[in-house]
Amino acid sequence: MSSSHTYTIDVIAGDGIGPEVMPAAIACVDALAPAFGFSTEWRHRDWGSDYYRRHKRMMPVDGIDQLATGDATLLGAVGAQDIPDDVTLWGLLIPIRREFDQYVNLRPIRILPGVTSPLANADRVDLVVVRENVEGEYSEIGGRVRRGRRDEAAIQESVFTRAGVQRVTEYAIEQAMRRTGRLISATKSNGIIHTMPFWDEVVEETAAGTVGLTVEKVLIDALAARLVLKPHSIDVIVASNLFGDILSDLAAAVAGSIGVAPSANLNPPRRHPSMFEPVHGSAPDIAGNGVANPVGQMWAASMMLDHLGQHAAAGALIDGFETALAAGIRTRDLGGTASTDEFTKAVLHELDHIEVTGGT
Ligand code: NAI
Ligand code: MG
Repeated sequence: MSSSHTYTIDVIAGDGIGPEVMPAAIACVDALAPAFGFSTEWRHRDWGSDYYRRHKRMMPVDGIDQLATGDATLLGAVGAQDIPDDVTLWGLLIPIRREFDQYVNLRPIRILPGVTSPLANADRVDLVVVRENVEGEYSEIGGRVRRGRRDEAAIQESVFTRAGVQRVTEYAIEQAMRRTGRLISATKSNGIIHTMPFWDEVVEETAAGTVGLTVEKVLIDALAARLVLKPHSIDVIVASNLFGDILSDLAAAVAGSIGVAPSANLNPPRRHPSMFEPVHGSAPDIAGNGVANPVGQMWAASMMLDHLGQHAAAGALIDGFETALAAGIRTRDLGGTASTDEFTKAVLHELDHIEVTGGT
């Protein structure tokens, strides 16, 4: 098979365990590429906290322009103990999400083989959280007055737009229709009296007329409880930026380990590159020991392949790490003894087998 597609992928390994799990994901993609007829040019970016210590910025002034010429961005993790988290987040991740209008944050949640959920009843968790990723509660509008005084106050405005709610709902509907046709909209229209009734209205309008779709409106507090009590009753959730942020970490915890959860920041019209990353952070407590679980980063790379149209390769990568996990090879966070490298070797061994059948 010839390499008909060449993808240019920007790699921001970042901080802490980011540079430990990133090579594992890259090795998997490189192992799959020949069999599935594509190739990848990796553009490594040394952006993140070290860059900040040298330049007082998380990325170059024209960082966004540099990424704009790529097909996708693969991110590890950012965050360092000596730099405030709002600097690392607002200096890198949030500008990329906003400048590239990555308005969907997609998080699939499943219990993988060999992973034990902390819940006794969570045998059939298989759900997707579609989080609005660029507006809503995370706005820059607001401020603080009378700093440090007893009468100090802080105000933070939420911004919901019709177009913004509509397009994330459309994306969630597409996901639901590919799965079971059941969509849950996370709301709080009983307590938040302007933005949330508006959210409900726009979701309802957008969903109207889609044959085979059922939309259930569930208050965020009740939905949090349901995610713990009856996770199998949930298929696709659409949620605002804040609600989706909290729910997806809760769902990732239900699925057993933060180390395996992936996420995609998507620009569905493909006018700009999308960005793929594990859910976990830089894990300073284990960084440098070579024991980080690379599954979240591998799964993020699989979501990237899927987005690029390499659906079979994306599936093969998931099969690869699921087979290794099912064979009992696990990193310490999952109760095993394997190092990052040992686990990665086991996955690469599986991918070699796939190559044989895929290459004919
Ligand atoms: P974290 O996800 O880095 O770590 C939480 C716990 O999970 C730690 O005990 C860690 O050892 C463990 N863990 C995480 N990923 C793991 C993996 N792949 N394998 C094995 N164990 C793993 O979250 P934390 O500690 O709250 O944040 C650390 C730093 O990361 C902070 O600076 C934070 O701002 C940043 N962060 C960055 C994110 C990003 O880049 N998108 C997301 C979350 C946090
Ligand atoms: Mg979060």
